[in-house]
Amino acid sequence: MQQDNGAPQITVLDAGGQYCHLIARKIRDLGVSAEVRPSDTPASELRGRRGIVISGGPASVYDSGSPRIDPAILDLPGTAVLGICYGLHLMAHELGGGVRLGDKGEYGTAVLHTARPHPILAGLNGETRVWMSHRDLVETPPRGFEILAATEECPVAVMAHSERPLIGVQFHPEVVHTEHGQDIYANFLFGICGCTKDWDPRGRIPRVEQDIVRIAGSRNIFFFVSGGVDSTVAYTLCLRALGPERVYGVYVDTGLMREGETDFVHGVFSRLGATAFHVEDAAAGFLAALEGVTEPELKRKRIGEEFVAVQERILSSGNFLDGHWILGQGTIYPDTIESGGTAHADLIKTHHNRVDGIQKLIDSGRIVEPLSSFYKDEVREIGRELGIPEPFLTRHPFPGPGLAIRCLCAERDEPATRVDDGWILPVHSVGVQGDSRSYRKVLLAPGSPTDAGIHSLATRLINNSREYNRVVVDCSGWPPETPLTISRSSITAERLHRLRCADAIVRELSAASGFDRQVWQFPVILIPAGTPARPDSVVLRPVHSVDGMTAESVAMPPSLLDEMRRRVLEIDGVCTMLFDLTHKPPGTIEWE
Ligand code: XMP
Repeated sequence: MQQDNGAPQITVLDAGGQYCHLIARKIRDLGVSAEVRPSDTPASELRGRRGIVISGGPASVYDSGSPRIDPAILDLPGTAVLGICYGLHLMAHELGGGVRLGDKGEYGTAVLHTARPHPILAGLNGETRVWMSHRDLVETPPRGFEILAATEECPVAVMAHSERPLIGVQFHPEVVHTEHGQDIYANFLFGICGCTKDWDPRGRIPRVEQDIVRIAGSRNIFFFVSGGVDSTVAYTLCLRALGPERVYGVYVDTGLMREGETDFVHGVFSRLGATAFHVEDAAAGFLAALEGVTEPELKRKRIGEEFVAVQERILSSGNFLDGHWILGQGTIYPDTIESGGTAHADLIKTHHNRVDGIQKLIDSGRIVEPLSSFYKDEVREIGRELGIPEPFLTRHPFPGPGLAIRCLCAERDEPATRVDDGWILPVHSVGVQGDSRSYRKVLLAPGSPTDAGIHSLATRLINNSREYNRVVVDCSGWPPETPLTISRSSITAERLHRLRCADAIVRELSAASGFDRQVWQFPVILIPAGTPARPDSVVLRPVHSVDGMTAESVAMPPSLLDEMRRRVLEIDGVCTMLFDLTHKPPGTIEWE
């Protein structure tokens, strides 16, 4: 239910800020309908709103061409206005206050000191932690405004008009790092705008389905599904909206997937009611494209190119480029803003987006992206409501290039060398040190993964070394029975099989013990270190993380580790099992 005229109660004016959609989302989380519109939307179109929020943005109010508002929105009868960051500057500037470039920027958390009580600050007293990201600041509030709060760097952190419902805040109440952010929005909505609860998040599925029906018209939809959460949820929404006979899904089996993955994905889609679902077996092509390739970025490039070739083939052979089809994609909101995705994921996506046929479809507007306004947690929530199985929705992230970047290769045979701190294994892995990429050898240090303090030892050793960026220990104690030798190797079906077996064992045992729920991700890596009879070793890499940007290596229960080692060492060709102690930074989560 929305206002009588069908309009939402709140409009968020987009001044280019990356949190703009998040603001609308936080308002809807409080049960109030909200939309996002361009910042210069005329006041005449916003008449009747209970509130308007002007978002932040990267510009300065003094830049030519910087986003503007229609000043008349500040005078709309019955409409309260909240300016956030750049929105505060715009409000101050329009009403005759002074905005200037701060002496230094204020980025990150700051302590807000409240100077006067006001309904916007209800429930907050004294000091509270807020999150700032600005250089410009309001120096003098416009006439009629009072300063309600300040931080050390920012004299006007909150201001409000003494008679009219106009409020500006310098910090970002929508981000989780602002302690009372949701309270501030609740104060604005219910205490100042007089909003009522009219938004039920459960209504979003029918709304999205209506959009799909409207966009598709009489055309059908086809999807390249990856088996990831986003494409699965988007695909399922289209299935429900149009019926299974009008939605065609193709899953490309690259041969670089984990044990049982293709069957698993197939099973999930069948249970969701998909009938027009096709698995394209492209394994041989991918293996050929990777032949002799050892360098990680070249692997990614070859995989991306092969993907493009396979997609082109499917698009033209299935007549999907004629006017009867539109393309469905699982794009989610963060993918559409600059900060979205990891750098690596971007790389893979670039390759996918380069598919000519897909680009043509996008350019001609023949595309439907049902999740493009949602965040990851909302997508999972929608997936739950659609009946997608929970273990599927909460799966650990898995990289697009699959096992290829977990199957390390070496250009030549070379023995490990003895140094004071252990053995240097001449197999290279990627790391991240001081914001740049490193590509260095690995130290096999003495000790066991269950030794106390062993993780801090790893960090100390890496900080003092220019030769290696990663530290592992052997799971059978030190030293391994035979000194390890690196052997010249590339990606082969045999080595992929070895890795797939090890990964399946680790997944099975960590799921059975519940350990998989204690970690964010648990890569298993195969390195060409061993003996002539057993040329490879398996590395365990369980990590904690929030977003993949930083990560900590996680200790494992000794009994679980023992059982994994026993089973992994039964795999033909596997010499020993190692454990990666490296945090990120200085290591990356994946080895490549
Ligand atoms: P790193 O290794 O950079 O990984 O610490 C951070 C997160 O990104 C995932 N990752 C990838 N995902 N394509 C992807 O789709 C890739 O090429 C890729 N490389 C790393 C990794 O699994 C982790 O979750």
